[in-house]
Amino acid sequence: MARVLVTRTLPGDGLARLAAAGHEVDLWQEDAPMPRAELLARVATADGLLCMLTDAVDDELLSAAPRLKVVANCAVGTDNIDLDAADRHGVAVGNTPGVLTDATADLAFALLLAAARALPATAQAVRDGRWGSWSPTAFLGHDVTGATLGIVGGGRIGQAVARRAAGFDMTVLTNTSRGGTPLPELLERSDFVSLHVPLTDSTHHLIDAGALARMRPNAILVNTARGAVVDTAALIDALHAGTIGGAALDVTDPEPLPPDHALLAAPNLIVLPHVGSATTATRARMTDLSVDNVLAGLAGEPLPHAVTS
Ligand code: GLV
Ligand code: GLV
Repeated sequence: MARVLVTRTLPGDGLARLAAAGHEVDLWQEDAPMPRAELLARVATADGLLCMLTDAVDDELLSAAPRLKVVANCAVGTDNIDLDAADRHGVAVGNTPGVLTDATADLAFALLLAAARALPATAQAVRDGRWGSWSPTAFLGHDVTGATLGIVGGGRIGQAVARRAAGFDMTVLTNTSRGGTPLPELLERSDFVSLHVPLTDSTHHLIDAGALARMRPNAILVNTARGAVVDTAALIDALHAGTIGGAALDVTDPEPLPPDHALLAAPNLIVLPHVGSATTATRARMTDLSVDNVLAGLAGEPLPHAVTS
């Protein structure tokens, strides 16, 4: 029997399979991430760790977990995990690819549409009593159909966004790690720029002041990837200066974004609390993949959804 530390309650019945397989499950039941000290204390006796993107799995944690065989991140992104350190400690790492592609692409498109037509501000105007009459000049947004969409990142989610864009007759430019449209050209030509790269050393602050300056004055930046792909201070400046038309973000740096953060004072901005994969069915599938990874790791088998450095 192995001991599995699960750092958050998860939707679906996937977790039950851990106990059914005879494993002891240590489930953190509070509706907040485990405090670091608690995580370090409990992982000390764990053979498996099923964790969230809010848990930093670094050399300190891995050194505190001598029995650990497997880390299953309940996310596709693994920037919260030091993959080299896991490799050194002989710990297998898994993630949840594929199952959240459509939910995340749907949310990216929802943000794109909402920003193009300023839905949050326009809906708020009704509640504030500012719907005086139908007006030919009020609440004007930007066309999505026929516009040019720049997709940064050629992975599953970026491709899924491109499929949605085809339904809107958009011209799609894609920049991938292997090529496609060069990033400067993509930024200069796009009416919408949507980010779908993992956070790595090479994508950290990929969208900095220089990149924002290349974007069109009406262009809208959509980020459903990771907050630190964008230089937040530069984005704040660009929004205030009108260098770009707006931003619609599901991810921010930092996360969570404090309500008094300077970013929230910027105009033409939509911020969501990192909900790209937040549908009941998608989260249940992510739980299932995470459990599959834990069970394989504890059995000493290759993880079905393995991540390597
Ligand atoms: C969510 O951000 C994920 O990486 O799954
Ligand atoms: C990762 O890029 C995914 O699309 O699952």
